[in-house]
Amino acid sequence: MDQLCTWLKASKFTVVFTGAGMSTESGLPDFRSAQAGLWRSKDPARLASTHALQHNREEFLDFYRMRIEALLSCKPHAGHVLLAEWERRGLIQGIITQNVDGYHQQAGSQHIAELHGSLTTLSCLVCEKTYTAARYQEENGWVCPCGGFLRPDVVLFGEALPASAFEQALNWTEQADLFLVLGSSLSVSPANWFPQQAKERGARLVIVNREPTILDDLADAVIHERSIGEVLKEMDLAMKK
Ligand code: APR
Repeated sequence: MDQLCTWLKASKFTVVFTGAGMSTESGLPDFRSAQAGLWRSKDPARLASTHALQHNREEFLDFYRMRIEALLSCKPHAGHVLLAEWERRGLIQGIITQNVDGYHQQAGSQHIAELHGSLTTLSCLVCEKTYTAARYQEENGWVCPCGGFLRPDVVLFGEALPASAFEQALNWTEQADLFLVLGSSLSVSPANWFPQQAKERGARLVIVNREPTILDDLADAVIHERSIGEVLKEMDLAMKK
């Protein structure tokens, strides 16, 4: 931990890369944890793909209704708030996130690249107007006033990542001298290309994840078996000494 704090304080450009493990302490499930990961009991192809949107709409709606209601009923935890504080203190320069819950923004972080879109808004497939997910929850209708279907603004399996988020993430990755992964199995591409690219360009790669990841061998430091909230809190206390 001390080494990590030394690297963080010495770093000129630190990029944080978060996955679903960043939000489990808020109460949202991740996807591949051994016990409660969503994809341990559900098939992403049937629920979170372009095919599901077109041909399996009932199950698609049930799945995203459940996830919208969960993200609206939970909130960012102390780890999200610490990352926002570290940004204000100049300790981190950007957050690349695979998460769609909007919790980094809610916690006050400003420099965020959402690689997989956002579940906080829905867009009409016909007129492309965008609404907040909170409005959906009130009116509980997936129908736009124009009559079109409102789809969640998340990247579905089979869709490309948003170009602006990808370019922002690439720009930060190319400048990073420290790349800190928090709560991701790093099993999904192209998102998992960023930590590899950072390492190839000479950045230090640190992975904090409860379970082993497929990039552990590439990392300069790995912290398993610990919760992200605890690790961030311990780091923050150590840096304030
Ligand atoms: N502290 C530390 N690690 C944790 C915690 C925690 N509190 N909670 C969960 N983890 C770890 C799990 O052990 C797991 O390895 O976080 C990791 C989360 O990995 P995934 O569930 O695979 O989530 P993620 O890497 O974000 O998935 C990437 O896959 O289905 C798609 O679009 C989805 O964005 C998601 C992408």
